[in-house]
Amino acid sequence: MYGSASTHDLPSTAPTGLENEDPILLAEFEARIARGEKIEPGDWMPALYRKQLTRMIEQHAHSEIIGSLPEGTWITRAPGFRRKMAQMAKVQDEVGHAQLLYSAAETLGKTREQMLVDLINGKSKYSNVFNYPTPTWADSNVISWLIDAGAIVNQLANAKGSYGPYCRALDRICAEEAFHLKYGHDAVVHMATGTPIQRKMMQEALNRWWPAIMTFFGPSDKMSVHTEILMRWKVKMASNDECRNQFLDMYVPKIWEIGLTLPDANLRKNEETGQWEFTEPDWEDFKRVINGDGPCNAERLAVRRAAEENGAWVRRALSAGKTHQYVRPLA
Ligand code: COA
Repeated sequence: MYGSASTHDLPSTAPTGLENEDPILLAEFEARIARGEKIEPGDWMPALYRKQLTRMIEQHAHSEIIGSLPEGTWITRAPGFRRKMAQMAKVQDEVGHAQLLYSAAETLGKTREQMLVDLINGKSKYSNVFNYPTPTWADSNVISWLIDAGAIVNQLANAKGSYGPYCRALDRICAEEAFHLKYGHDAVVHMATGTPIQRKMMQEALNRWWPAIMTFFGPSDKMSVHTEILMRWKVKMASNDECRNQFLDMYVPKIWEIGLTLPDANLRKNEETGQWEFTEPDWEDFKRVINGDGPCNAERLAVRRAAEENGAWVRRALSAGKTHQYVRPLA
């Protein structure tokens, strides 16, 4: 079965969930978006815009803190002092990204405490790719280079979107991700041009990660649930397939350039259409993973749960004498 990152073909039906909105306010809101204006927290917005943005930014924030875990486990084992320092700085940046994103999501009304409760209880999603193990240093390098590359493709597009606080957070995040990308590329090139054993390790790690990387951009546009409304309101500035195609365009040549191969015999660019063709990802497996049944979901959430519990006394101490939302034990 073949897939293709071809031009998205989204349904053109009017979005549901807007029946109770004031049509005049809704028209003004959509006109502002059409003019390229930013929507700010105090501005009028349809409940569905608020809900969709909260969902997406919250999932993004969770992906940053959970995403710091697979690379974080390699800080103590990174080969050499310089790599160790860089790995540590990168992981710290990722947690900082979560901080920015939770703050952006909070402007929409949901508390950070509730978001973390929803993450720990498995109610909120986070990126599928962080539910896979990193058995070798080479696996960590694949994340540093290619997952960050994928994230930049998505985030550079969405940084031009309609919601001010999210766009400003993405601008800052993209600036830092650009360093991560260079760090990851350098680490992969180092391994791929090293000893035969290092090269083999790098190739095997890439083979392990490729299927997850292909699904990182979300289901194909035909299957995507939220793309239509998110693109209509310029929250997503490119569809899942467009991001996937752009990533393949930018990074497959770079991967091939350093002599690595990709584990998909059908991967090729159709020069006539400009679209990449590839073996259709296993979307059933993708669904299982994002719904909690991937190889590392339980482990990742257990780490977060422990972090919340172990950090409770710090939050209590910081807010001593004040009524603070973070002092309550997590349900
Ligand atoms: N990992 C986990 N879940 C994913 C996913 C992924 N790679 N791609 C899609 N999903 C989930 C969606 O969250 C949605 O679930 P929900 O309805 O329970 O919330 C479902 O699959 C259907 O997907 P779709 O309709 O395509 O969702 P979307 O329009 O929100 O697009 C993203 C998915 C990831 C492209 C989009 O949310 C996005 O750009 N997010 C911001 C960037 C981000 O989070 N990056 C990951 C970390 S760097």
